[in-house]
Amino acid sequence: MMSIPRDNETTFLLSGWKNRIEIAIEQRLPPANTKPVRLHQAMRYATLNGGKRVRGLLVYASGYLLGAPDELLDTPAAAIEAIQCFSLIHDDLPALDNDDIRRGKPSCHKAFDEATAILAGDALQMFAFEQISTSSHSEAQRLAMIKILAEDSGSVGMIGGGAWELDISGKKVSWKELENLHWLKCGKLIHASVLLGAYGAKVPNADILARLEKYAYGLGIGYQIGNDILDGMGEFEFLGKSPRSDQQVGRTTFFTEFEVEKAKNRMVELFDSSINALDGLQRAEPLRQIANQVKERSLSVF
Ligand code: IPE
Ligand code: MG
Repeated sequence: MMSIPRDNETTFLLSGWKNRIEIAIEQRLPPANTKPVRLHQAMRYATLNGGKRVRGLLVYASGYLLGAPDELLDTPAAAIEAIQCFSLIHDDLPALDNDDIRRGKPSCHKAFDEATAILAGDALQMFAFEQISTSSHSEAQRLAMIKILAEDSGSVGMIGGGAWELDISGKKVSWKELENLHWLKCGKLIHASVLLGAYGAKVPNADILARLEKYAYGLGIGYQIGNDILDGMGEFEFLGKSPRSDQQVGRTTFFTEFEVEKAKNRMVELFDSSINALDGLQRAEPLRQIANQVKERSLSVF
C-alpha cells in the first residue's frame, strides 16, 4: 500500500479538526430559539462565522502530540474559540477598536446592537468555563484547564494585554514593552490553547510544558506582529475587515512604531523559535504546520 506523504496527512488532520470545531461549537451552544432569543442568536452569529480557528486547531494539535483521541479535545477547543470570539466581539465595539466588519461580515454590534454584543461576549465567557467544568475529563484535568483559561484570559493575560494597549495608545514605547504587552494580548491565549490540548490529553511533564511555553511565546508574538503588519499593509478582501484600523484609532503597534523590515525579521525569528521548540518530538507535525501557516499568512504582504 502506498503511504500518504506526511504533509498531506497533516493537512488532512487539520481540515478534519476544523470541521470538528464548527460542530463542537454548534452543538454545545444553546439553540438559536432559546430564550432570550436575540442573545443566543448573537452568540451563534459571532462564533459560527468563518473564523480561521487557529486556537481551536492548536488544542487538537497539542492533544495529538500527547496521543489524545479527538473526542477528548472537542470541549476545550469549543471553549477556547468561545473565549476568542468573546474577545473579538468586545474588541470591535466603539469603545475599543470600533470595527464595523469582522470576518467579512458586520461585526456583532453592527449585526445586532451594542448592548446585545456586550452581553453576547459576556455569555460566551461563561459558556467556555461551564463547558470545561462539565467535560468528561478527570477532576484534576478540569481544574487545571479552568485555571489556565482563567489566568491566560484575565487581567494578567489577554484582557490585561488589551488594557495595556489602551494605556500606550498614541505613545512611544520600546520594542521590549510592545513584546511584553503582546505576550499578554495575543500570546497568552495561544499559550492557553496548547496547554488546554495537553491537559485535555493528560497531565503533561515538565519537558513538554517548557516546549509548549516556548512554542506559544514565538507563535503568539509572531502572530501579533503579523497582525499589525497585515493591518498596515493588507487589503480588505484578504483580511475580511478594514485595513489601517489600528491607525484610525491611534494604536501603537509594531507596524506604526518600527521599521517594517525590523518587524518582519523579528517576526520570522519568533516563528522559527516556535517551530524549533518542537525539535525531536514525534507527532508534532500539526503544531509545526499551524505555525508555518500563520507565518506564511503574515508574510503574504511582502
Ligand atoms: C484582537 O486584537 C483582540 C484581542 C486579542 C484582545 P486586535 O485588535 O489586534 O485584532 P484585530 O485586528 O481586531 O483582529
Ligand atoms: Mg481589533
